[in-house]
Amino acid sequence: MTTLSPRELLAPKGRPEPKPGTYYIQTWGCQMNEEDSEQMALYLQDLGFTPVNSVWEAQIVLLNTCSVRKKPEDKAFSLMGELRSLKRYNPEMVLGVCGCMAQTRANEIRHRNPHVDFVLGTGDLALLPGLVTESLQTRRFRKRTELPERKGKVVTDIPRRHLGRTGKLKAFVPIQYGCDKFCTYCIVPKTRGRERSRPTAEILEEVRKLADQGTQEITLLGQTVNSYGKNLLEGNVPFAQLLWQISEIPGIERIRYTSPYPRDFSQELVETIRDCPAVMENVHLPLQSGDDEVLREMRRVYTVESFIEIATRIRETVPGVTFSTDIIVGFPGETEAQFESTCQAVRDIRFDAAFTFAYSTRPGTPAGDREDQIPREEKLRRLAHLIEVQNDITRDINVAYVDQELEVLFDSASPKWPGTIQGYSREFKLVQVQGSEDRIGRIAKVKVTESHLWGFSGTLV
Ligand code: 5AD
Ligand code: SF4
Repeated sequence: MTTLSPRELLAPKGRPEPKPGTYYIQTWGCQMNEEDSEQMALYLQDLGFTPVNSVWEAQIVLLNTCSVRKKPEDKAFSLMGELRSLKRYNPEMVLGVCGCMAQTRANEIRHRNPHVDFVLGTGDLALLPGLVTESLQTRRFRKRTELPERKGKVVTDIPRRHLGRTGKLKAFVPIQYGCDKFCTYCIVPKTRGRERSRPTAEILEEVRKLADQGTQEITLLGQTVNSYGKNLLEGNVPFAQLLWQISEIPGIERIRYTSPYPRDFSQELVETIRDCPAVMENVHLPLQSGDDEVLREMRRVYTVESFIEIATRIRETVPGVTFSTDIIVGFPGETEAQFESTCQAVRDIRFDAAFTFAYSTRPGTPAGDREDQIPREEKLRRLAHLIEVQNDITRDINVAYVDQELEVLFDSASPKWPGTIQGYSREFKLVQVQGSEDRIGRIAKVKVTESHLWGFSGTLV
């Protein structure tokens, strides 16, 4: 996620002149959004536009927005507001708002920001070139927020993707869009629509193209990625088989996937993680809360006990597997005792890492409309406490890796330490070693010498 504040974006050192034929995309949110931004960039490049580093220079400015929490929505509105004066400075600019906010708040965006040229929802990014071209010709507000229809149980008209990505060591590949789970805190079913799976043949075609261009690691994306295949048309395969088929594509060394839904972990999938050599030994298993009553109110269809059963089954089947999770604190009505249950569950399950969030009220969701919202300070206090609990566990788990050998795919030079390169192990632990940059893009064994909260330092074996 790009973390520049609106002010930093708008005030780079020296004010660059606008450059015709350029674009700038600001992205908030999840990996799916990052991936959507890449698709948008490809469509703009097809039209002959080239990327620039600031909104000052760009002729086409796209804001790819996120609705999952309030903060990225506030940031997007704030940047939209500031771009009003920038558009006076650069009247040639075309401003498009895309992504989850565009999907659900198009009219409000238009009302508050008459300088926005178009909004494009999450349904079909291939509409972007048409919107840009039309906006360059005549300035009239345009809105495209149709989602693909689901006829009965199956969606047949999932838009095809732009397959023009090149030269990526690691690539995200969406395999499923939308969500049918309707957790009561979550806006995603509204912003991304009902669950639909991409045809298997198209996914394999995309991965083959990526592998031909040097991609070694694939991360499959979906809101509940392991339910891929539900409502499938003939000729498509369930999730575990998809993993096998991708692993057989020459050049693909590693496969990850995010996020699975705990209840949909079939035994076939667990055995595939164990047996399929390319599938990494790391599972992201979102717990959300460690209290049964809160889980029920969240409409998560598992209990803490059944979650632990799933994690245990995976641990017993897959040697060396690691776990990460997502947890929300301060769900409406969450008591101190219920929060303590979450901390206890975290201590019991011992995740390697946790993405922790203060509950963010999403209007229009069942939990967002409740009156027993927890005060912000209390949510932040609980969040800070939970992070401490998890950090102690992470440190403790990581210490046990010292002297072990891990297999690392080096992906970059360390931004902090010159002469150091870094990458992830099969357990999805960040590992740094002294080494030359020509090792980037290669897999090597590393002996862990020091453990940290963020991962490991080591030496090449
Ligand atoms: N408030 C806070 N966190 C949320 N998430 C989803 N909706 C909300 C919300 N309203 C978190 C969940 C999910 C992750 C992607 O974001 O933990 O797994
Ligand atoms: Fe949101 Fe729940 Fe669907 Fe995840 S499973 S996207 S949290 S509704």
